[in-house]
Amino acid sequence: MTNSHFVKRIAVLTSGGDAPGMNAAIRSAVRTAIYNKLEVYGVRRGYAGLIDGDFLSLQARSVSNIITEGGTILKTSRCEEFKSKEGQKKAVAQLKKRKIDGLVVMGGNGSFKGAHKLAADWGIRVVGVPGTIDNDITGTDYTIGADTAVNTALDAIDKIRDTVHSMERIFIVEVMGRKEGFIAIRVGLTGGAEDIIVPETEYNIEDMCDDIREGRKKGKISWIIVLSEGVAPAEDVAGLIRENTGFEVRSITLGHVQRGGSPTAMDRLLGLRLGAAAVEALIKGATDKMAGVERDAIVLTDFETACRHSRRKSDLDRELYKLTKTLSI
Ligand code: ADP
Ligand code: F6P
Repeated sequence: MTNSHFVKRIAVLTSGGDAPGMNAAIRSAVRTAIYNKLEVYGVRRGYAGLIDGDFLSLQARSVSNIITEGGTILKTSRCEEFKSKEGQKKAVAQLKKRKIDGLVVMGGNGSFKGAHKLAADWGIRVVGVPGTIDNDITGTDYTIGADTAVNTALDAIDKIRDTVHSMERIFIVEVMGRKEGFIAIRVGLTGGAEDIIVPETEYNIEDMCDDIREGRKKGKISWIIVLSEGVAPAEDVAGLIRENTGFEVRSITLGHVQRGGSPTAMDRLLGLRLGAAAVEALIKGATDKMAGVERDAIVLTDFETACRHSRRKSDLDRELYKLTKTLSI
């Protein structure tokens, strides 16, 4: 058996929005557990599966050939019932019934709020792995899936640019990210967008229209504006610009394509490092914490802190936002 005094049989689940690289993290967590002589189970459909007792025993070969796949082989869900004490009680009973003494929760902000409840209110040992395309978690420079989402959105914008440039149009491209402009800012900057609209920064549609008119006078004939979904629907913004300038404006919402596809090397690496780190943390007795990577080193952060706003990330985003503005003259 394992040398750990803390855990002997653990379970892994994925919760909230799926993110590319979650499978790499599952593979790593499962094999690290087996390498350390732990028994390991998967829970299907996140907290919903935990409540229903939807468990499966996992072996090293159960996670073969998944490193290249987006989504999550364990499936995931958003589960209202788990937010209640009653729901949590059922989930805890399922873990106790199987003598599972440690849990790895892979997910975003909401998933970690739930994981914190399991640890703080019910005494379950839980360590988290940040998996969400939004990169809205404190205690890790990147969340699993964010890099792939940025690259997917960038690929779409590069293609849209062909029409923007050829037909001298204005395009509003809406990207995901919930209340954070992480994806919009990176895609806007690396895609050479003229403007970015994100929830973190005030924007003035009249000023933007003045810039567009001025730009036309200077020979800037096409315009890409990347809009974060947390601000307003793309067609609403397009309508305002159309009305104000009289120019031809198109809008597109990239949507869930950003969540899919094979993970980039960066997301696989992050998933592999963090899946292993979470299991190692459980073995050493950690709980109520998330494993993340900051300045390329593994760090553990309390779930409560992980769910709070990160000033360091905001400062970086402000710098990148400013650079986009500077470069779009
Ligand atoms: P993500 O983890 O990607 O942010 P959600 O916000 O949908 O996705 O959260 C995933 C799940 O976590 C929710 O469906 C719910 O089951 C659980 N959850 C979210 N917030 C809480 C909370 N305050 N207390 C308990 N569980 C929560
Ligand atoms: O949290 C990931 C995310 O893709 C957000 O960017 C987006 O707002 C949300 O999930 C969409 O959720 P759903 O897939 O439930 O529509």
